[in-house]
Amino acid sequence: MENKLEKIVSLCKRRGFVFQGSEIYGGLSGVWDYGPLGSELAHNIKELWWNHFVRGRKDMFGISSGILMPEAVWKASGHMEDFADPLVECKKCKKRFRADELGKNLKCSECGGEVSEPKQFNMMFKTEGLYLRPEIAQGMFVNFKNVLDTMRPKLPFGIAQIGRAFRNEISPRDFLFRVREFDLMEFEYFVKESGWEESFENWKKEMQIWIDKVGIDKNMVSELEVEEKDRAHYSKRTMDFEFDFPFGKKELYGLAYRGDYDLSRHMEHSGVDLKYTDPVSGEKFTPHVIEPTFGLGRTVLAVLLSVYTEDEIGGEKRIVLRLNPKIAPIKIAVFPLVKNKENIVSKADEVFSMLKNKFGNVDFDDNGNIGKRYRRQDEIGTPWCVTVDYQTLEDNTVTVRDRDTGEQTRHKIDELEKYFAERLI
Ligand code: GAP
Repeated sequence: MENKLEKIVSLCKRRGFVFQGSEIYGGLSGVWDYGPLGSELAHNIKELWWNHFVRGRKDMFGISSGILMPEAVWKASGHMEDFADPLVECKKCKKRFRADELGKNLKCSECGGEVSEPKQFNMMFKTEGLYLRPEIAQGMFVNFKNVLDTMRPKLPFGIAQIGRAFRNEISPRDFLFRVREFDLMEFEYFVKESGWEESFENWKKEMQIWIDKVGIDKNMVSELEVEEKDRAHYSKRTMDFEFDFPFGKKELYGLAYRGDYDLSRHMEHSGVDLKYTDPVSGEKFTPHVIEPTFGLGRTVLAVLLSVYTEDEIGGEKRIVLRLNPKIAPIKIAVFPLVKNKENIVSKADEVFSMLKNKFGNVDFDDNGNIGKRYRRQDEIGTPWCVTVDYQTLEDNTVTVRDRDTGEQTRHKIDELEKYFAERLI
C-alpha cells in the first residue's frame, strides 16, 4: 500500500491517537503527544506487557524508579563516555545530521553543502547537575540490592519496569520511530554466568510470543545478530528484532547479554556490595544479565502498520484497524438505531451504562446513519458495535456486529456481559 505511513499519521491526528508535541507553538521536533485514543492504546499495551511479563510470572519483580539520576550513575554505567552519536554540521546551512545517516557521501542532504568533521555528540539531557535517564535499565541495577533484601528472590529472577527515557537525538524522524522522549518496557534478568546462553535463547522465544500476542505481524519481523562493532558498550551479545517499517527494516526491540558489566561497575563506583549469595551452596558471585527491551512508541507504530487495512464491506470502501481487542482503545460502541425514539435511546443508554461499568472504554454514538457509525468505529479499531433497534423493545435482544467480518448476530441483553468478558478478559 502506497504512503501507508502518511495514511497512519493522518489517521492518528484525525482521530485523536497522536498529535505533534507543543503543536500550537509550531510543533516540537522529536516529541509526540498521545491523544485520548492513543493514550488508551499505549496504556493497554503497557498493561498487556505488565500482565504478561510481570504479574504472569513468579520470577519477575516490578519497580518504578526515578527519571532523574545523578552523574555518578552515568559514570558507572559508561554513558558519560560512550552514549554518543557522530554529529556533523553543514558549513553552509548549519543543519545537523548523524554522520552515519548521510552514508559514505558526507554532503548535506538539504543543500548539498560541505559538512564538518564528525564529532561525538553525547545524547544525554542534563538538568541542574542531574541527568534525565537515557535508559531505564540503570533504575533496575541501582535497586538490585533493595529488591534482593526486601523480596528475597532466588536466581534466576528479573527486575522489570515501564518508564520514560530521554535521548537528545541529533535527527529525530519517522513519526514515533526516533523521538527524544519515549517509554520503554524492559527487564533485567539475572542469571548465573554459566546459564546465560540458555536464558538468552529462552527470552528470544518469549519475545517472539509477545510480538504475536500484541498483534504485530510476525511476517514483518526479522531477527538480526548485531556485530560487535555495532553493539552498545555494555553488551557482549545483542540480537535485534527488526520490523519492516515503510522507511526500511529497522530495530523494533533488542535482546542483550550485558554480562556482569553493570553490577560490577556499580560495585566499583558506589562501594556497595551487589553480589548474590546462593542460599543452598553459600556461593557468592555477581549475577550476569539478559536484557529484553521493548520500545513502546515503536510497538504502537509496528502494531498500527500491521493492522491498518483498507477493504470493502457491503460494497463500501472502509479503513479498518484490525487491533487485538485487548489493546483496542474502545472495546465496544453502543448505538440506538434512531435518535428520535425515546424508548430506543433510553434502552441504548441502559446497555451503554451496563457495558461501560464492566469494560470501561465503551462509546455511545447516535450520530448519522448506522453505516457511517460502523465506519467511524472500524477506523479506530473498535472490535464490536451493539445496536439497539425496534426488535429490542419486543424481545430484549440487540445486534452485535463484528469489526473484521461485518457479521451481525443477535444476543440477549443480559448475556452481553458474559459474551464480551469471554473475548476481553
Ligand atoms: N537498556 C537498553 C536500551 O535502552 P536501546 O537499544 O538503546 O537499549 C531500547 O533502546 C529500545 O528503545 C529500542 O529497541 C527501541 O525500541 C527503543 N528506542 C531507542 N531509541 C529510541 C528513540 N530515539 N525513539 C523511540 N524509541 C527508541
